[in-house]
Amino acid sequence: MKHLIVIVSSWLALMASAIAGSGTPFPADWKSWTAMSTTLTGIGALPDCSADVSKLPPIYQKTVETYCSVKPGGPGKVAILVKPSVGGDYAARSGKFSDGTNMILHLKDMKVLFVTGHKNGAAVYGVFTEDGKDITAASGPLAAETCTTCHTGYQAFCKGGQCGTKK
Ligand code: HEC
Repeated sequence: MKHLIVIVSSWLALMASAIAGSGTPFPADWKSWTAMSTTLTGIGALPDCSADVSKLPPIYQKTVETYCSVKPGGPGKVAILVKPSVGGDYAARSGKFSDGTNMILHLKDMKVLFVTGHKNGAAVYGVFTEDGKDITAASGPLAAETCTTCHTGYQAFCKGGQCGTKK
């Protein structure tokens, strides 16, 4: 019996480290997704921590604060990509998306994809390299929990996991 308990608990520990991965699958066809013009793409890039962002809305200030130190000089150039079949949902900003990976914040200089998907209607998050390696962390700026906290914490900006608006 003792043996069994040891086996079960080490298996649970393995599972726990596995679920530090993305909550939504890698969008293998991301290069053919639709690029959107948004407030962030208008700014063009995420700056380093010395940038004066005091005139931006609080959610954008918090985004810079969260990511400005992930790379010297800041994360850099960005694009917003949306799965072609949900372009209408993105533009409508109704907060309703079909299940699957739907939106990407492409950190072009870092060659990293922040992905938002939906599972049973709820928003789920993950981080991948451009070629599909899951680099979603267990804690810190690249953890799914960090995405959720911000993407649900600013009601005026984010609906159903979507924060930006088509401009
Ligand atoms: C502190 C706030 C904050 C955090 C943390 C954050 N985001 Fe966002 N995210 C934003 C804002 C603001 C936008 C909208 C930018 C725009 O297009 O104007 C955005 C946009 C996005 C988009 C494009 C679609 C959309 O929602 O407009 C994706 C995809 C995305 N984020 C995924 C993630 C993932 C994955 C994480 C975690 C690894 C994450 N975000 C962490 C604030 C945040």
